[in-house]
Amino acid sequence: MTNSTLITRIGELVTNDEDQGAFAALGDAALVIQDGTVAWTGPAARAPAADSMLDAGGRAVLPGFVDSHAHLVFAGERSSEFAARMAGRPYQAGGILTTVAATRAASDAVLRANLRRLAAEMLGQGTTTFECKSGYGLTVTDEARGLELAAEVTPEVTYLGAHVVPPEFAGDVSGYVELVRGPMLQACAPHARWIDVFCEDGAFGADEAAAVLAAGRARGLGARVHANQLGPGPGVRVAAEAGAASADHCTYLTEADLDVIVSAPLVATLLPGAEFGTRHPYPDARRLLNAGATVALATDCNPGSSFTSSMAFCIALAVRDMRMTTKEAVWAATAGGARALRRRDVGHLGVGARADLILLDAPSHAYLAYRPGVPLVAAVWRDGRLAAGTVS
Ligand code: NIG
Ligand code: FE
Repeated sequence: MTNSTLITRIGELVTNDEDQGAFAALGDAALVIQDGTVAWTGPAARAPAADSMLDAGGRAVLPGFVDSHAHLVFAGERSSEFAARMAGRPYQAGGILTTVAATRAASDAVLRANLRRLAAEMLGQGTTTFECKSGYGLTVTDEARGLELAAEVTPEVTYLGAHVVPPEFAGDVSGYVELVRGPMLQACAPHARWIDVFCEDGAFGADEAAAVLAAGRARGLGARVHANQLGPGPGVRVAAEAGAASADHCTYLTEADLDVIVSAPLVATLLPGAEFGTRHPYPDARRLLNAGATVALATDCNPGSSFTSSMAFCIALAVRDMRMTTKEAVWAATAGGARALRRRDVGHLGVGARADLILLDAPSHAYLAYRPGVPLVAAVWRDGRLAAGTVS
């Protein structure tokens, strides 16, 4: 094959074959990259010749992680809030306003540098596709600039003007909702693919969330919802009624919510970094999986509730504390994330997929949970090009 690279002697090649809708892997395998896509996978002994060859030496190769939920456009940090929470103070949605003040005060250059640093941090840890939300600007110009910056680093850009009600609208939620679904949406829609709402006590109620999502849908944006994070509530139902791709968090679900997730269907995107960082109970992944739901794992990377960019950390939490198998967790962090973003080209390594892949310094995917906290990503390819790390 011309213009091609053969990666051979792969101990475990996680392909996540699309038609199976579940984890799938080959032992003793090889993979050919050609023109940025996967051109061939199969037994190493039957691999075709290619222009160049790399020896994986028995190590595992996985699809690049798809982090379908992150808030990366912000300034400042909130480590003292985290420390206070670990000492017993509860998490409150209002903490978001601390970051809103810092973000509004920051220059474009400061926001861009922080965003790029986090994007590079993600890439080095194997994340080849990520979603990025606004939501710390909360004025027409600050939200639009956040989305423009996000669009510099990812196509999966989400308008989250409805994150919380900013101080200048305190006591006037409906006035702020009108801004979010009117002039702010007008300015933001051209830079975004998705619209999101934080549907929760202390943020936006069911009717407000539905109104925001409907306006976004009318402007051609896909819907996703922060739902049932801090307590039971209408978020999942609102997400289903809006035709959302994903309900995110899903920490507090009733039986009725579970039925809605399965029948809508909604991808249930679980964000265990947020439960780690807020001391809330972890979402019940087993219950969702047993009911037949599609589950994604993502970082929720943000300076308040979950300041991690590590998908491996989320996989380890999901396996240890959410009763996902190692296979389910790796599928959720790759193919599950792709489904949450309605992407077919990433999250798997079938022929024709984007050649986004991770070489692990380990013989199997299970090591991601088996060796928690250890940097196991040896090399990362994005669009068929080596983008981080080394092979040898
Ligand atoms: O997904 N829940 C809403 N938004 C973020 C938290 C943002 C913050 O605390 O700054 C989340 O957890
Ligand atoms: Fe979030």
